[in-house]
Amino acid sequence: MHQPHPMEAMRRQPIGVFDSGIGGLSVLAHIHRRLPWEGLLYAADSAHVPYGDKPTAEIRRRVSTVAEALLGLGVKALVVACNTATATAIQDLRNHHPHLPIIGMEPGVKPAVAQSRARRVGVLATNGTLRSGRFNHLLERYGGGAEVIVQPCPGLVERVEQGKLGDGVTEALLRRYLEPLLENGVDSLVLGCTHYPFLIPLIERLAGPEVSVIDTGPAVARQVELRLNEHGLLSGRHVSGGIRFFTSGEPGRHQAMFECLWGRPLLLEQLPESAGVDLTFQKAGQLVE
Ligand code: DGL
Repeated sequence: MHQPHPMEAMRRQPIGVFDSGIGGLSVLAHIHRRLPWEGLLYAADSAHVPYGDKPTAEIRRRVSTVAEALLGLGVKALVVACNTATATAIQDLRNHHPHLPIIGMEPGVKPAVAQSRARRVGVLATNGTLRSGRFNHLLERYGGGAEVIVQPCPGLVERVEQGKLGDGVTEALLRRYLEPLLENGVDSLVLGCTHYPFLIPLIERLAGPEVSVIDTGPAVARQVELRLNEHGLLSGRHVSGGIRFFTSGEPGRHQAMFECLWGRPLLLEQLPESAGVDLTFQKAGQLVE
C-alpha cells in the first residue's frame, strides 16, 4: 500500500484550537472559513472556565494540560484561541515546543489606535489579560498614539458560556462596563476576549453607530494560514478537513450550548486529558496500569 511521505502525512494532520470554554468557537469559525480544507480539533476547558480571574500558575497548568491533550491527538499546530491563555502561557508553550507552530491571540490595540478618529480607544478584556506583562508591553508598543482605556469585564465570559447573549442581566453588565468608555468619548472598541464576539449585536446596539468594534478573529485566521505556509504545513488537499469538538467537562452538559453558538448540530467528545482525574487511567470502570 502507498505510504504518504512523512511531510505529506504531517500536512494531513489537523490543527488544534483551544480556549477556556466556548469563546474560541468565534475564532474557529474564522479559521474554518479561511482554511476549509484543514482538519480542526477544538478543545474547550469547560471544567475550568473562566480563566480570567484564576492565578497565573493555575492558568499555565491548564493551558499545558489542554495543549498536551491536543498534541496527543496528533495536531500539527496549535491556536491558543484565548487572550487570557495567550497572555499568560504562550511563552511557556513555545519554550516547550520550539518547532511547533503556535499561534496566539492579542487584543487589537494596534488596529484600534490606527482607526480611532477621536484618538480614544477602549479595551474590554479579562483581568488575567489586562494584568499580564504581555498586554502591558502591547500597550507600550502600540498604545502611544491614543488614549487607551482598559475595562476588565468579570462575569461576561460566564454569560456567554450560559448562552445568555442578549437578556437583561447581560445587558446591564455590559452597560456598566461600556459606560465609562463611552463617557470618555471612545470611538474604537477592542474585544480583548474571544467570548465577546458573541455579544457583538448587543455591544453595537449599546455603543451606537459611531463606535467601531474590533474583533481579531479574522486576523488570527490569516496568521494561521501564514504560519502553516511558512512551515510547509498547509493541507493542500481539496477535501473538507472536518472538525471535531472536545470538552474537559461532561459532553452531555455542554453539547447544547456548543450547538447553539456553533449554529449546527455537532458531536461533542470528552477531551482525553492525561493529567485529568479519571480519563486515561480508567477504562470501562477498571484501573489500567
Ligand atoms: N476566551 C477567553 C479570552 O479570550 C476567556 C477567558 C476566561 O476564561 O476568562 O480571554
